[in-house]
Amino acid sequence: MKITTCIFDLDGVIVDTAKYHYLAWKRLAKEKFKKDFSIRDNEQLKGVSRVESLNILLRIFEENVPENEKQILTDLKNKWYVEYISKITPEEILPGVLKFLEDVKRNKLYMALASASKNARLLLDRIGLTHLFDCIVDGTVVTRAKPHPEVFLKCAELLEVEPQSCVVFEDAIAGVEAAHAGKMYAIGVGDKHILHKAEMVISSFENIIVNDVLNLTKTNKNE
Ligand code: BG6
Ligand code: MG
Repeated sequence: MKITTCIFDLDGVIVDTAKYHYLAWKRLAKEKFKKDFSIRDNEQLKGVSRVESLNILLRIFEENVPENEKQILTDLKNKWYVEYISKITPEEILPGVLKFLEDVKRNKLYMALASASKNARLLLDRIGLTHLFDCIVDGTVVTRAKPHPEVFLKCAELLEVEPQSCVVFEDAIAGVEAAHAGKMYAIGVGDKHILHKAEMVISSFENIIVNDVLNLTKTNKNE
């Protein structure tokens, strides 16, 4: 089946906010539990919703927190995160992204944004990219966190395209798994050892053109 749509995750794919999410969780771990949150453990939080991220962090630290206190912790983490990203400018768009997005438009493919973040629209506005996307599905709309495919399937539904014709760009293991669970192709953005389940892994958008995406169908995965 021909590729019709490129679906982009936001955090860690279009802009390097993954580091700000990490800094905010690390600060919470230090201030509330006097523990060090490692960059390695942080991989498990990428792509995962805010509340599920807290649950994972608590499991790692073997901490128990009553349900009513979880909201206080996630609010605090989000307050810090929003402080960090409120200073973001278009200069923090990752290398090669703008050129690649133009290439996607030129090839008349749909462009969708699929993010677990409730801050996605705020962030997209700050970097000036909101107008480029044919549809935006974010954490305010979806109910099931990645690796559930809901966020990606919702994009396909809104654009009225087959999931098998969609390619997802993801920096998170959970995101690659979600794409596959939705019968979509996945292109990993980041470390090829971490994202090895994806059909292709790029270290940066400087290393890819739309033709590479169109050629994915030759892998016959979904045929
Ligand atoms: C994802 C990030 O895009 O959004 C996760 O990769 C984050 O790290 C999740 O937890 C939810 O974001 P937010 O902004 O709603 O807390
Ligand atoms: Mg991400």
